[in-house]
Amino acid sequence: MNILVTGGAGYIGSHTSVSLLEAGHNIIIADNFSNSKPEAIENIKKITKRDLIFYEIDVTNEKSVDEIFSKHKIDGVIHFAGFKAVGESVSKPLEYYYNNLVSTIVLSKACLKYKVNKFVFSSSATVYGDNKVPFLEDMELLPTTNPYGETKAISERILTDTAKANPDFAVSILRYFNPVGAHHSGLIGESPRGIPNNLMPYITKVAKGELEKLRVFGNDYPTIDGTGVRDYIHVMDLAEGHVAAIEKLDKGVHIYNLGTGRGTSVLQLVEAFEKVNGIKIPYEIVQRRPGDIAECYADASKAKKELGWTAKRNIEDMVRDAWRFEKGV
Ligand code: WQD
Repeated sequence: MNILVTGGAGYIGSHTSVSLLEAGHNIIIADNFSNSKPEAIENIKKITKRDLIFYEIDVTNEKSVDEIFSKHKIDGVIHFAGFKAVGESVSKPLEYYYNNLVSTIVLSKACLKYKVNKFVFSSSATVYGDNKVPFLEDMELLPTTNPYGETKAISERILTDTAKANPDFAVSILRYFNPVGAHHSGLIGESPRGIPNNLMPYITKVAKGELEKLRVFGNDYPTIDGTGVRDYIHVMDLAEGHVAAIEKLDKGVHIYNLGTGRGTSVLQLVEAFEKVNGIKIPYEIVQRRPGDIAECYADASKAKKELGWTAKRNIEDMVRDAWRFEKGV
């Protein structure tokens, strides 16, 4: 199939682009490099030894998006492009609502106009809010603690309502848990701009000596060791989940958790990183981070049953591959 990958130069987008090309699909990437680097495009080609079409555009721009759809026969869209920093979304709500919602609307309109009937959407476990774990796809969504989470929940509703009004338009909504790690080549990975918000890139920067120590946000949660528990999933498992989702998508609206179904605490992840990579990670326990929940992990049985997909890589693979990318090949 010919797949349009928006945000395909980004962290999850670049890994999914690799998996799509390796599965024999052709891809068109649309990215404006607002949270990614141009070298990702060359590295995707280097890893897969395949070519791709690239447009440096903002996918909220209706004219630019229409141009791509008018020039190319597109069989499906995987929409990653979006702002995704939870904390930043609290201080910049209008940027987040505009960018994340208008891009979804512009792409959906283009799909209807050009009869592109497969739309895979990059959503997030954040939409579950403070529900009881493990999170199940048919759970009632609770309000999230931030505009970022709200843009994901509202985008899901935009797509669901559009599919209801246009039965040929099929949608697969993928709710990610905590993507970490990198392609084993070390050529692509997570390279956030500035000081990382997320745990794993913060750990790798401490390992590299760029940051002095890790601040552990609270150890008084009702969890195995008091620190936050999350469902970390290797980004390549996530990428393979997207290939399965778009290949299996034919009609209706489907929602899948892409997680391992296992929770790991902050201190357990630090310990795994130290053991596998032989590097000590100094840390200090500090106050809880506002908006954090104690535990977040998936019930991933629906994706296994309907997509034939399960996460194959473990925590050791994640910390090994994350470090290989950070230290550079
Ligand atoms: C993980 C754990 C922190 C940093 C976010 C988004 C989610 C998804 C993934 C997009 C928590 C602790 C973290 C640090 C720490 N993104 N931590 N010190 O908040 O679970 O999820 O990123 O879809 O939508 O909400 O990820 O990596 O920030 O935190 O102690 O310096 O690590 O408290 O328990 P989070 P995270």
